[in-house]
Amino acid sequence: MKTYLQLNSSLHGTESHSSRLARQFIATLVRTDRSADMSAVSTRVVVRDLANQPLPHLTAERFTAFVTAPEQRTADQSRIVAESDALVAELAAADVIVIGLPMYNFGVPSTLKAYFDHVARAGVTFRYTANGPEGLLHGKRAFVIATRGGKYAGTPSDLQTAYVRQCLGFIGITDVEFIYAEGLAMGEESRTAAIAEAARRIEQLAA
Ligand SMILES: Cc1cc2nc3c(=O)[nH]c(=O)nc-3n(C[C@H](O)[C@H](O)[C@H](O)COP(=O)(O)O)c2cc1C
Repeated sequence: MKTYLQLNSSLHGTESHSSRLARQFIATLVRTDRSADMSAVSTRVVVRDLANQPLPHLTAERFTAFVTAPEQRTADQSRIVAESDALVAELAAADVIVIGLPMYNFGVPSTLKAYFDHVARAGVTFRYTANGPEGLLHGKRAFVIATRGGKYAGTPSDLQTAYVRQCLGFIGITDVEFIYAEGLAMGEESRTAAIAEAARRIEQLAA
């Protein structure tokens, strides 16, 4: 079984460029798997919409639950940890993760930040060692579809790329590729060209 996890974070629902490109990318990957004679391997696609089903902000209550020993947790703390455990299990089960990443006010959507806050768990997805932190989720590939109204890739104003790469790497997901669709708010011509370029890149990466 090969599992794909699609994480959408756009507030635009079905109108979202990042969610649509992420879906298109997974469909292309699945098609490529099949034509590469992986027909014996079944595929599973899990879609998590972080905008439609947002996670709470990380609060003192929630973080305390994470760091309380299982046998000492209250019923509320156990419920909080179970919610995080389910997200971690879903991520750990994925072979390929595709993140739809719109830029909102120069950063990542707060819903994606909340997701990272719920899956970065000491002793679960990373651990501290004498050599520094070590990620515990291995053998995964991640693709990030970054959509933006303006153009930032490769400039110091692109605060998203390093942040997302760092968050994924911290928990062990180091094989990460970014696909950009930029200039989406810079006129029809710019938008059409950016989407076509992202689609081309998707085909290239899936090949
Ligand atoms: C609340 C909000 C904030 C935004 N902030 C930025 C920004 O800082 N820089 C930028 O280039 N585009 C910004 N945009 C434009 C989006 O990045 C762009 O519309 C992109 O296509 C969103 O992806 P989506 O279609 O998947 O929602 C913003 C859009 C919204 C709704």
